[in-house]
Amino acid sequence: MSAKPKVLATRNFPPNVMERLLHDYDVKTNDADDHLDANAILNLSEDVDAIMSSPTNPFDRALIEALPDNVKIITTFSVGYDHLDVEAAKKKGILLGNTPDVLTDATADIAILCMLGAARRAHTSARILRNGEWTRWSANQFLGVQVTGKRLAILGMGRIGQAVARRAKGFDMEIHYHNRRPVSAHGLEDAIYHDNLDSLLQNAEFLSINCGLSDDTFHLMNDTTIASMPDGAVLVNTARGPIVDDSALIRSLKSGKLAAAGLDVFENEPNLNPDYLDLDNLFVLPHIGSATHETRDAMGYKSLDNLDAYFAGKPIPSPITA
Ligand code: 8YV
Repeated sequence: MSAKPKVLATRNFPPNVMERLLHDYDVKTNDADDHLDANAILNLSEDVDAIMSSPTNPFDRALIEALPDNVKIITTFSVGYDHLDVEAAKKKGILLGNTPDVLTDATADIAILCMLGAARRAHTSARILRNGEWTRWSANQFLGVQVTGKRLAILGMGRIGQAVARRAKGFDMEIHYHNRRPVSAHGLEDAIYHDNLDSLLQNAEFLSINCGLSDDTFHLMNDTTIASMPDGAVLVNTARGPIVDDSALIRSLKSGKLAAAGLDVFENEPNLNPDYLDLDNLFVLPHIGSATHETRDAMGYKSLDNLDAYFAGKPIPSPITA
């Protein structure tokens, strides 16, 4: 029997995933789930054929170039791959894989949670209740922004953007979107395409950010673009933190330009900009878009399917090619 391929698991993945990984491969684990910096990854990679990683471990150009030649494939436990230098990997002949599709619904659910949580002031009202500070009902207390029937602008109409749109139609929202190209998707025939960001933002009573992070989208939402949104709008980001300039968002929440924001992602995770903490019109979550048992297992299995295919000499099911 030939030896099992060697895999470095940079994180401790869900138990079902680890079970399959450990059964099928000779694995270097990170049981404590410690942060591995580039040097640690380099040291641990000296004799492995593959790396199973996550966005918490960036593989930038320098790291990829320094990896030993025995590393043939890196599969990331995520759909996003802004943390991987795709060009450098291609040049070095390292195959990259990710986990699309399986986290679409869970992430879209969290976008709706952020939208409702922000609009309906869930953070403030729950905090006041839990602190024992809710002393009486009042007709003028905890008033938020009505969601039903409003215009929802979706930035990035890929799988997750479309899933958000479908859910929002259940709230009778009018769907507007900006994307490289118009999409034709079942159930979204009446969604209104904007070929430029400014036109989208003018309609953004609610904005849901669902595009990937790249040089083109870094700080796409900043003082200028936020100013294009209607006064009293609500911004929701479940994609990647750096698409929004946090300082600009904080200014707009403080001034009341935006009524509220709902974030599952922010710059410099896990360190939330402390200026956010003073804001009652922020509903914020610690990057839990894909955090359900079912979805995290499915993400792990997808990563393993990539490894299995590679080591069986077949094309991997979810390659990163962009
Ligand atoms: C992951 C994500 O949970 O898939 C992505 O791109 O952002 C999340 O679903 C996170 O990246 C940890 O792997």
